[in-house]
Amino acid sequence: MNLIFLGPPGAGKGTQAKKLVQLLGIPQISTGDILRAKKEEDSPLGRQIREIMAEGKLVPDEIVVEIVKERLSQPDCEKGFILDGFPRTIPQAEALDEVLKEMGRKIDAVVYIEVPEEELIKRISGRRVCEKCGEEYHVIFKPPKVEGVCDKCGGRLIQREDDKEEVVRKRIEVYNNSTAPLIEYYEERGLLKRIDGVASMEEVFARIKKALGIN
Ligand code: AP5
Repeated sequence: MNLIFLGPPGAGKGTQAKKLVQLLGIPQISTGDILRAKKEEDSPLGRQIREIMAEGKLVPDEIVVEIVKERLSQPDCEKGFILDGFPRTIPQAEALDEVLKEMGRKIDAVVYIEVPEEELIKRISGRRVCEKCGEEYHVIFKPPKVEGVCDKCGGRLIQREDDKEEVVRKRIEVYNNSTAPLIEYYEERGLLKRIDGVASMEEVFARIKKALGIN
């Protein structure tokens, strides 16, 4: 199954994509995760990405498209994939259509997770991430057993730099201006599955499975 997870920052794309990965055994391709790794590189590109992400803006389309193109050509994507956080602009969606056409493949469904803005801010401000293994928590909705410590590896839990409130507001503005037009783009192509994302993580997952016809 070739899927796209679409939705505003904090909608639960990453959380739900990880659950589906476990069920279907296909990889999650998170451009956010790939770019977070790249921004640590001591190179002009690393510095450019670092500055853009810290401000909550979008990394240029040509950089992200190249990353995704390369990733989709890996053997583990042959059975299917979940694109999480890509495409994020109409030009990225058009570039993806081209890349998939060249590969003789197509998108089967676009899972659009809808969550109102006040709830997004609540979710993102409570998110904590393990600085060692990257495992994600939420101070209220998915707390670790010991405050500030990763259950999996004992690493320290930190707040993502772009999860500070003023940056989150910028990310939501960028989403509304640049990414929201993709809802219509995929609706017109008959691919959009609207999911009400305001419910427990398990309930949202059940809704996604039902929409995709997975038992
Ligand atoms: P990225 O990492 O993709 O961030 P995002 O889209 O803003 O997504 P988030 O990770 O904040 O939200 P999510 O929907 O995955 O929610 P999550 O499951 O984590 O991108 C970061 C940056 O990279 C961008 O700003 C941009 O600069 C750059 N970038 C990335 N892709 C790009 C592209 N294609 N083009 C250009 N630039 C790009 O959940 C959030 C929190 O809520 C968690 O704490 C979770 O535990 C909690 N939660 C989840 N579900 C529920 C629930 N049902 N109930 C209660 N809490 C919940």
